[in-house]
Amino acid sequence: MNRKPGEKQRILVVDDEENLRHMLQLMLQKQGYLVDQAAHGAAALQMASQGSYDFILCDIQMPVMDGADFLKEAVAAGTSGTIIMMSAYGTVDTAIECMKLGAYDYISKPFKSDEIALVLKKAEERERLKSENRRLKDEIGKEYSFASIISKNPRMQEIFSLVRKVCDFKTTVLVLGESGTGKELVARAIHYNSRRKNAPFVAVNCGAIPENLLESELFGHVRGAFTDASADKAGLFEQADGGTLLLDEIGELPLPLQVKLLRVLQEEEIRRVGASASKKVDVRVISATSKDLELEVAGARFREDLYFRLNVFSINLPPLRERMEDIPLLVTHFLGKYDEKYDKRVVRCAPDALKALMNYRWPGNIRELENCIERGMVLCEGETMELGCLPEKLRGAATGDRGPVVPPDSLSLKLAEELLEKDFIRRALEKTGGNRTHAARLLEISHRALLYKLKDYGME
Ligand SMILES: Nc1ncnc2c1ncn2[C@@H]1O[C@H](COP(=O)(O)OP(=O)(O)OP(=O)(O)O)[C@@H](O)[C@H]1O
Ligand SMILES: [Mg+2]
Repeated sequence: MNRKPGEKQRILVVDDEENLRHMLQLMLQKQGYLVDQAAHGAAALQMASQGSYDFILCDIQMPVMDGADFLKEAVAAGTSGTIIMMSAYGTVDTAIECMKLGAYDYISKPFKSDEIALVLKKAEERERLKSENRRLKDEIGKEYSFASIISKNPRMQEIFSLVRKVCDFKTTVLVLGESGTGKELVARAIHYNSRRKNAPFVAVNCGAIPENLLESELFGHVRGAFTDASADKAGLFEQADGGTLLLDEIGELPLPLQVKLLRVLQEEEIRRVGASASKKVDVRVISATSKDLELEVAGARFREDLYFRLNVFSINLPPLRERMEDIPLLVTHFLGKYDEKYDKRVVRCAPDALKALMNYRWPGNIRELENCIERGMVLCEGETMELGCLPEKLRGAATGDRGPVVPPDSLSLKLAEELLEKDFIRRALEKTGGNRTHAARLLEISHRALLYKLKDYGME
């Protein structure tokens, strides 16, 4: 129940003993609640369907309709309000049974006033947490909505409108695209835009888990199934029950597990490692890969039948270099994101910085762009991101070509040689991640010669 601040919470007391009802009413009013009374379950049901109660305190043994029956009907009718049972001597078992049916707790009669206060406070806290949880879920949903996937590229727009149509169906979706193109982002958007959004979204990287552990990770195991299995454990399929499971890097799934995955998808049931029985699961599977799966199939590294099963609906995310028009939008988006994170006020890119961003090929796609901006933010002082805040590899791109630029009016061979050498050294170091020994080998000069040149050109 969402009460306005200062508004009193409402309680319905249900008991056939008039004295007890009065006693409770006085006690609860003193604690600041608004209290109504009912003498049996049937009356309570009627009142609960009209008034909106935060709590219902309900006796178990009553004429006309007892507490357990009231509880069942109230739960079935979707009555709001937390129900707490009151059990007299001899009805504790029923009270416990009631908790299984949906009652929040029970208190044994006779009780003291602070006992009730305590149970109510606990229940209030739980309600607060529940609504906080709902709010957070809504927020996550917003963060992962299609609106948060930034693109004005027509191909991307087409993808979004197609994907929106399959969100609510259980269709398996295969998301393809180079590394960093937003495959996981799309998978999350599908989940949070589907009817499954309140159930878990679970992601697993099939390439990151050792082959011998992957089966138990996906499908779970029973105690004793192998040496380390000291207890039963649910796998990711069970954890995602009712929700969505993202099988990331599906191309890395070992062949024996491909067979098992295919069976799970066809039969919609899993068997924990070491278990004799299977178990139904309701999971929407999205898989993603940056590999060319058709090539994997052709090379017999990926089963064709599984490929067809996963590829019911496929999305191919274009690399960033094929949607350069998105770069300014993405840059603004990431500037905002990291302004918040680093408490900065960077609002724009200098024209030459933007030009450098537009001229680069982005092999790591949006993730690489995001990393560049984040790194730049840390270095950036004012409101403008200058070219100097961007990584070295981009700065060479500012001019539009990757080669060295010789001033047009110069015929100096010496200068051209120097510029060419600098450029080659820079590229070699980039390629080797700064490892000078390896860079020297690529340049076909000695390590010593490289160190000398670095010093000479002021490139250390
Ligand atoms: N269109 C977009 N708008 C905003 N952010 C994006 C967009 N595309 C990707 N990103 C961001 O880029 C990063 C990489 O995206 P994601 O992890 O979804 O890529 P991926 O394709 O799964 O990469 P990999 O193949 O490396 O796993 C994330 O931080 C994501 O939020
Ligand atoms: Mg990914």
